[in-house]
Amino acid sequence: MTTALTQDQLKALVGRAALDYVKPGAIVGVGTGSTVDKFIDALGEALQSDPARVAGAVSSSVRSTQRLEALGIRVLPSESVTSLGVYIDGADEIDHSGYMIKGGGAALTREKIVADLAEQFVCIADESKLVQTLGKFPLPVEVIPMAAAQVIRAFARLGGEGKVREGVITDNGNLIVDVTGLSITQPAQFEADINQIPGVVTVGVFARNRAQVCLLGTPAGVKTLTF
Ligand code: A5P
Repeated sequence: MTTALTQDQLKALVGRAALDYVKPGAIVGVGTGSTVDKFIDALGEALQSDPARVAGAVSSSVRSTQRLEALGIRVLPSESVTSLGVYIDGADEIDHSGYMIKGGGAALTREKIVADLAEQFVCIADESKLVQTLGKFPLPVEVIPMAAAQVIRAFARLGGEGKVREGVITDNGNLIVDVTGLSITQPAQFEADINQIPGVVTVGVFARNRAQVCLLGTPAGVKTLTF
């Protein structure tokens, strides 16, 4: 008899599989979230048998930095790194072209910065994250506090309903506006347009920094999508 894997087990599966994309001795870019936590766990295990498995990490959040350091992994400031071979991160939604919505954990700005340093973005996700069109997941947008109401009005003109995420201040001291009611059919154009709204720090559409690979956790195992 086979038992269905839980969402947590699917995350652990893809977290482990992502190790194959990290070259021995490299500095790895590390994202944020519950799936990335599994990748960090796998990295910690790998280091036990091979202490030189990675030279260090560049992290996209305080949360991931703390987890990495607790395992004895050196975390380098992104300012000290000019490029990374690979960036490993989760997504809230990913489509069949590797475009993503991210920021459910409010770390989208640092995630985009670290992703931009990397030659390859490997997205790790359970299969519930794969969608035809981005937008069902409320789109996170990091905004300068004084612009929040203005940004919400700008989204209303695009047919979206924005709400400030309660009780959340980002690692950069800003607010998150979550926008529902959007159907993002042209992610690259959408990302460029939203970036023009004054007060928007980062929009949670990752088009310019889309994934090149997605390791998708399915009941049949890890499915590798390449874009
Ligand atoms: C963090 O800000 C997000 O971009 C995460 O990468 C995304 O929310 C996925 O998180 P989970 O792996 O917890 O689903």
